Amino acid sequence: MGRRKNNNDNNSMNNHLRFQDADEVIQDAAESSNLDDQSMCEPEPSEPSFIDSDDKTSADYYFDSYSHFGIHEEMLKDTVRTKTYQNVIYQNKFLFKDKVVLDVGAGTGILSLFCAKAGAAHVYAVECSDMADMAKQIVETNGYSNVVTVLKGKIEEIELPVEKVDIIISEWMGYFLLFENMLNSVLYARDKWLVEGGVVLPDKASLHLTAIEDADYKEDKIEFWNNVYGFDMSCIKKQAIMEPLVDTVDQNQIATTCQLLKTMDISKMAPGDASFTAPFKLIAERDDYIHALVAYFDVTFTKCHKLMGFSTGPRSRATHWKQTVLYLEDILTICEGEAIVGSMSVAQNKKNPRDVDIMVKYSLNGRRCNVSRVQYYKMR
Ligand SMILES: C[S@@+](CC[C@H](N)C(=O)[O-])C[C@H]1O[C@@H](n2cnc3c(N)ncnc32)[C@H](O)[C@@H]1O
Repeated sequence: MGRRKNNNDNNSMNNHLRFQDADEVIQDAAESSNLDDQSMCEPEPSEPSFIDSDDKTSADYYFDSYSHFGIHEEMLKDTVRTKTYQNVIYQNKFLFKDKVVLDVGAGTGILSLFCAKAGAAHVYAVECSDMADMAKQIVETNGYSNVVTVLKGKIEEIELPVEKVDIIISEWMGYFLLFENMLNSVLYARDKWLVEGGVVLPDKASLHLTAIEDADYKEDKIEFWNNVYGFDMSCIKKQAIMEPLVDTVDQNQIATTCQLLKTMDISKMAPGDASFTAPFKLIAERDDYIHALVAYFDVTFTKCHKLMGFSTGPRSRATHWKQTVLYLEDILTICEGEAIVGSMSVAQNKKNPRDVDIMVKYSLNGRRCNVSRVQYYKMR
């Protein structure tokens, strides 16, 4: 396979979710919803240890990065993401009319403005980065100061001028769904302020797994370190393979079935539920070589009049979350109908809670390949 490319033109059906098509109401939706899409074996023992270093990580840079407009530009221009939220809000005004809304991590204030426009009684837009200052100006410039109150600070530290809110809205999802660990801030807000029977938007998020052929790119990203201008830099290769790669995967690379790993109900789950172990069984749909597992997520808004949401899978229109590629140490020679079985464990990194530790156990008992291995990854 060649280098990965975007797959915005894909039209295949998501086999596990069917949402209302955004085209049905909002103009311009052709640019937005991706909802019609889904959704040499020489094993060596691996050492069960994560790389730990004192280097700065996402935790240190996290809030700073959201102060710059660039990251907000990227998110706003992700039309799958932003238009889905817009459609959810504008097409379900009955949810918002005269309701008090809390926007957790408001950024530029875009979701708060959507809610205000949809008839919310009041919106509290909480943003901890310096973008909060811009959000205040944006709210004012657009004439919504009487409806939207921007509060600068961490959701865990601010005081709200009301005791309860009717709706919590947030765009908290990180790469691999859980990177950045903003979900905990939403759960904190839910437990502190959401009125009994209140609504969390979105309320469902699911993580999926599949397997791909990816010889060329693995060669370029991992095997590259074996021989760099004649020098052996393979010590870096060990680190490179432990870091999941965020990139778009061409759907033609998918060689197995896709497996739902975990669904989270944001309205009910406990913070600890974001750490889990889930089994998987990926069945080969053709004879091929497998170089990597690929994880992606869907989010859904089940409280809408019709089910709405989006997928970040390789068969869906590309989003800024792309997919998360986990390279395997082995190359699996798989025959159609054979299965890679195993489990994936996901946990917050203890030292840097915004980083994610992943452990994958996999085995293939095939006609041409017998492998069993444990691999450790760290999103940082
Ligand atoms: C993914 S962005 C979404 C921004 C905006 N809601 C949008 O949809 O464009 C998440 C935002 O949440 C903010 N944030 C993250 N954790 C937070 C916390 N604990 N308290 C307040 N804001 C937070 C970040 O600074 C960032 O601006």
